[in-house]
Amino acid sequence: MNYETPLFFHVMQYADAADRDVIDMVSGNPDWEPPEALREGLREYADLEPDRFQYAPSAGLRELRTEIAARRGVDAEQVVVTNGAGEANYLAMARALERDRGNEILLTDPVYPYYPGKTTMLGGTQRFVATDDKGYLDPADVRAAASDETAAIVVNTPNNPTGAVYPAETMRELVSIAEAYDAILISDEVYDHYDLSGEFASALETDSANRIVTNAFSKSMAITGVRVGYAIFPPELVADAKSRHMLVNVATTRPGQYAVLRALRETEPDYYERNRQRLRERVETFTDALDAAGAEYTTPSGSFYVMARFEGYPGTLANVERLIDEAGVAGMPGEAFGDARSEWLRFALVTPRVEEAAERLAAYFD
Ligand SMILES: Cc1ncc(COP(=O)(O)O)c(C=O)c1O
Repeated sequence: MNYETPLFFHVMQYADAADRDVIDMVSGNPDWEPPEALREGLREYADLEPDRFQYAPSAGLRELRTEIAARRGVDAEQVVVTNGAGEANYLAMARALERDRGNEILLTDPVYPYYPGKTTMLGGTQRFVATDDKGYLDPADVRAAASDETAAIVVNTPNNPTGAVYPAETMRELVSIAEAYDAILISDEVYDHYDLSGEFASALETDSANRIVTNAFSKSMAITGVRVGYAIFPPELVADAKSRHMLVNVATTRPGQYAVLRALRETEPDYYERNRQRLRERVETFTDALDAAGAEYTTPSGSFYVMARFEGYPGTLANVERLIDEAGVAGMPGEAFGDARSEWLRFALVTPRVEEAAERLAAYFD
């Protein structure tokens, strides 16, 4: 099988090997502090008894599943704690395909590249539905693309790479389309704590046997390296997902789950608000400079990313490498996210050097 390896690692390696100072705006690794209780939880863990260094229950620590379930308004039995949102998406897509209700996965264009990669890996086929210029999805277009072949519709809100936050009405419509074709709506909500618009609506708000919600603490607690996420399945679909999770992983990190549980319980809302505020300020700084550079760009309503288009400079891998070498700024090529944004570049605002990066871009494209 010919897997599509996402380009992220290639671009990061290229930037690392560059012969000059490069500002890394490639990946979505937050540069800010995790909650203090997370650090305390990890420190505390090191001194626990040997039995705590053994397998966790496969579906996740009972107390963590209960805490997540209470916050999300579901039953703890529906929650599987995973190795990040990445595994949660994999379990959800696999579960949708193994129902034998079709082999096609509906994805958006632009798309988070791991979804088409996972689709191929799982033996499914992709069908893309274009979003509008700002990244919004018209449910009527999804309905027109859906058929008896549709196993799943995979969406991501707040969105990587466009920054769109889908309104509640869109989420309700997407669930209803999944129900009409007995497909599964998979809603990846890993950036839910970075909704800058106040418009975020979880797919969980619409109760249905045809939707799976995936999420993680990777972004919300700035711990992409800790690897704790979760998927919430309808009761009828959860057993087989737990089996797959067990066969693939046995279980996920026990110290990580312990520390996340502690952080969930002890972290005040202002931790999350501070992080959103930092992001708002960075968006403003960066887009002001893009204005000065005469670039077209998207202003995100959520997530970490700004897409920009510079006249005569399409978003190819070659141009991204040139920008690393000649301007000292590393972004992602728009072509990595599908056909719709091949003229664009994506910049992740997870560096304190956003202003400097913007100045370098403005000088380069002057
Ligand atoms: C849309 C989306 N889903 C999932 C992930 C992966 O999340 P995790 O690190 O929790 O596996 C990312 C990471 O950038 C993402 O952007």
